[in-house]
Amino acid sequence: MKVLLLENIHPVAVETLEKAGYEVELRSSSMSEDDLIAALPGVGMLGIRSNTHITPRVLDAATDLEAIGCFCIGTNQVDLVYAQEKGVAVFNAPYSNTRSVVELVIAEIISLARRLPEKTEKMHAGVWDKSAKGSHEVRGRTLGIVGYGNIGTQLSNLAEALGLNVIFYDVADKLRHGNARRMPSLDALLAEADVVSLHVDGRPGNAGIFGDEQFKKMKPRSLFINAARGMVVDTEALREHILSGHIAGAALDVFPIEPKAQGDPFESPLRGLDNVILTPHVGGSTQEAQEEIGYFVAGKLRAFQQEGSTALSVDLPAVQPPPLTSGSRVAYLHVNVPGVLAEVNNVLAAEGANVTGQYLATQGEKGYVVTDVAEPISEAALAKLQASPHTIWLRSYTA
Ligand SMILES: NC(=O)c1ccc[n+]([C@@H]2O[C@H](COP(=O)([O-])OP(=O)(O)OC[C@H]3O[C@@H](n4cnc5c(N)ncnc54)[C@H](O)[C@@H]3O)[C@@H](O)[C@H]2O)c1
Repeated sequence: MKVLLLENIHPVAVETLEKAGYEVELRSSSMSEDDLIAALPGVGMLGIRSNTHITPRVLDAATDLEAIGCFCIGTNQVDLVYAQEKGVAVFNAPYSNTRSVVELVIAEIISLARRLPEKTEKMHAGVWDKSAKGSHEVRGRTLGIVGYGNIGTQLSNLAEALGLNVIFYDVADKLRHGNARRMPSLDALLAEADVVSLHVDGRPGNAGIFGDEQFKKMKPRSLFINAARGMVVDTEALREHILSGHIAGAALDVFPIEPKAQGDPFESPLRGLDNVILTPHVGGSTQEAQEEIGYFVAGKLRAFQQEGSTALSVDLPAVQPPPLTSGSRVAYLHVNVPGVLAEVNNVLAAEGANVTGQYLATQGEKGYVVTDVAEPISEAALAKLQASPHTIWLRSYTA
């Protein structure tokens, strides 16, 4: 099977896929809709980053395409509803840059506590201002983490290693790491934290959850960090609390409105404020994260194509069967209507097949069932399933 990787995807992805037996073509740029339509016949798996747009026209023309790997975090560039309709699996790398974000946040906590933005600015202006005023160690301070998911928990562990006391608040029940303390409410966390760091997800209900009321509830001279989502924070309210001195410093990596293209002007009420670190949404942007993304997404494509695994697919029902070590496997994507599983099992029973494992999931209008049997399945049985009006695709594998 041919794999086409666009947009300079990390070489580790090429290596992983070639090692798995695929012929890989690597291109450094993205492709227009028309160029993609011309290039995709014969391509079974496509790798893109954020600049290649997968439209219904592209999906209609790509008759050999089984899977798309988005070698990035976002998947807005793919028409996911239509991809699901066509049975094309789409994967991304939602967690490969977790460590990168955590390291940036750790750096920011220390930088803000030492007021480094001001110090470096003065030095560049030729001012030697040697003073301990307003500079603090972070050891023994309390870090309040809002959103204790992948990033929040890893931050928790690293922060404790620095001697910070960690408290956290999450809307879901979360296992605490190390000595971190779970807080019963956001208000309880705000009342105790010397540094508040937001790591909530982008669910619609999180828009504007951090504004004037929450900043008022933070401790005087505390620090504020947001590397989660721009829409969560009222930046005008933050500006007022920094100007009043109630908030002693802030670091922001994400903004309610971010420039679309490289070099576009950046506007924010937070520009020009003392002890405020502003970064252009680079929390997850490191060379190591790119490598991790390359490795992760290539692995998902391989497991889908060779084992029928849809684990962490963003559009197809997620099924993670174990690697096939003996016998054979049928992976069957179908319309989610009652009776399909019985249909599959009736065909296999008529074969006298010994089913050794069956894994299934549904998502919206689609259902996916992976069945392992001890012996090879006959062509006739496969053809019978293929002929069902509910079939989107059917693939078989032999150990
Ligand atoms: N700055 C960057 O470059 C960058 C890079 C990667 C991720 N992110 C962002 O960081 C955030 C966290 O990522 P993650 O991988 O840890 O996500 P995650 O889904 O693993 O964790 C999010 C956590 O927030 C909790 N949560 C949601 N709403 C909440 C609320 N209102 N109050 C308290 N808890 C709440 C959820 O229950 C979950 O535990 C996401 O918004 C993600 O988009 C930013």
